[in-house]
Amino acid sequence: MSNPPVFTTSQGCPVSDPFTTQRIPLDSTGYKYAPPIGPLLLQDFKLIDTLSHFDRERIPERVVHAKGAGAYGVFEVTDDITDVCSAKFLDTVGKKTRIFTRFSTVGGEKGSADTARDPRGFATKFYTEDGNLDLVYNNTPIFFIRDPIKFPHFIHTQKRNPATNLKDPNMFWDYLTANDESLHQVMYLFSNRGTPASYRTMNGYSGHTYKWYNSKGEWVYVQVHFIANQGVHNLLDEEAGRLAGEDPDHSTRDLWEAIEKGDYPSWECYIQTMTLEQSKKLPFSVFDLTKVWPHKDFPLRHFGRFTLNENPKNYYAETEQIAFSPSHTVPGMEPSNDPVLQSRLFSYPDTHRHRLGPNYHQIPVNCPLKSGSFNPINRDGPMCVDGNLGGTPNYANAYNCPIQYAVSPKASGNKPDEKYTGEVVPYHWEHTDYDYFQPKMFWKVLGRTPGEQESLVKNVANHVSAADEFIQDRVYEYFSKAEPIIGDLIRKKVQELKRKASSPSKI
Ligand code: NDP
Ligand code: HEM
Repeated sequence: MSNPPVFTTSQGCPVSDPFTTQRIPLDSTGYKYAPPIGPLLLQDFKLIDTLSHFDRERIPERVVHAKGAGAYGVFEVTDDITDVCSAKFLDTVGKKTRIFTRFSTVGGEKGSADTARDPRGFATKFYTEDGNLDLVYNNTPIFFIRDPIKFPHFIHTQKRNPATNLKDPNMFWDYLTANDESLHQVMYLFSNRGTPASYRTMNGYSGHTYKWYNSKGEWVYVQVHFIANQGVHNLLDEEAGRLAGEDPDHSTRDLWEAIEKGDYPSWECYIQTMTLEQSKKLPFSVFDLTKVWPHKDFPLRHFGRFTLNENPKNYYAETEQIAFSPSHTVPGMEPSNDPVLQSRLFSYPDTHRHRLGPNYHQIPVNCPLKSGSFNPINRDGPMCVDGNLGGTPNYANAYNCPIQYAVSPKASGNKPDEKYTGEVVPYHWEHTDYDYFQPKMFWKVLGRTPGEQESLVKNVANHVSAADEFIQDRVYEYFSKAEPIIGDLIRKKVQELKRKASSPSKI
């Protein structure tokens, strides 16, 4: 380096040798060789500065999706969808918006293996002219739950046993088999799509229904699909297991190296749309996150493409501190009344305030475009570093932020909106026959590709063979509700694994 920076303390005071500490030498009388050096001084700011900052290096890891990798990129509008959505960043074909995408596994800790059988998070922040839009998706078009209060119960069963601190197949299957609405997602998870070959070779799905408005205030329900231009490629169970040991950071490395060598991954963006009237004729609720919208009834419509082309400069500053929330949205795009989505609107900013602090929006990677926001009421708080709006009055005031009575597109809409009536009820979604219909369809979809149904059976059997026998019986029954043959095949496979385990070793 021709002009290296001068090493300083955190306060900018130059340091000639970062490794020295202030010590008092011992009286050398009586020592044959050099006397041991004496005690440290409390006044040694350089030492205290170094140790105390080190002591505070960790922030809480995300309670779910702790292990992840991300990159910057660019989204481009490819087709006009202004009849569906009035979001400004979509208003012109060819318009580009900077993005950051973070991929993740869900259940493991920050150092866990990338190839674990788990859904993958697929979260993208769009730095738009109307503020930040976060599309916080997974690589599965459905989810395990539709009653939001089940989320912490479900997640606890996928994490570690409170006594042994081990992953626990009994907890895992006990929960799932008692909650049949999970079946569709569990079949997806135990298919080969549960172990993607890399973050570049998987699709992303909104899963939830959203509501998008055009400039006339007309709205439709929307599902979003990101389809990988690299194709969908998966690992077999054994390969995933091997890589978990040999290269636990496999997907992180794959993404970083592809971008470094200019092999930029990209995804085509599509929507499915549905009107209120169409939703009334569905055999399932449009707010039921465990269902897909059949392609033949709701065809995909292309609207954009994004490409990841820039690795972050610093993992902690960018990938670790980025804070996504489905509630970070822009005019033209709204959440639907899907109760899981509604709960997520609260949960993410809540956890950000815990994980990063109340001023998390000031962290550069989270800062809206055009140097932040103008919000004179959100002031002060820990780590307020953006000048705190100087002398601007700290309330909505007549001097420099007159309240704007903008007409929201929704208010001027000419389409009938949902109408809610009646009394508050304690609601727990009941199961219907249709809950088993889409899992059955999924089994048929797997049957189109040789080996896929066999993989599902084997992957479940490998996992459940470590569980108690009565839990195994519940697992056979659970999968049989999609198609009786699945339960039978899993039972046979588990018995085969047990026979192998009990037969004498040939070593
Ligand atoms: P389609 O035949 O039109 O769609 C089936 C879809 O399944 C494909 O488009 C593909 O989605 C996905 N798929 C194909 N092969 C596999 C595989 N080996 N593992 C996992 N997914 C695969 O039928 P429908 O739309 O009526 O859906 C039938 C079933 O397909 C559903 O019950 C659902 O389980 C599953 N599915 C449906 C999706 C949807 O949004 N409609 C999306 C994904 C799965 P893609 O092109 O997105 O990869
Ligand atoms: C991360 C809660 C359902 C996708 C998180 C985090 C929480 C959370 C607390 C950690 C956020 C952070 O620390 O930054 C919930 C709750 C849910 C739910 C309460 C249901 C009630 C879902 C669903 C999806 C999803 C249905 C996908 C459709 C993600 C993704 C991340 C995440 C992608 C990682 C974001 C990142 O990369 O930082 N969730 N979640 N979650 N969740 Fe959820």
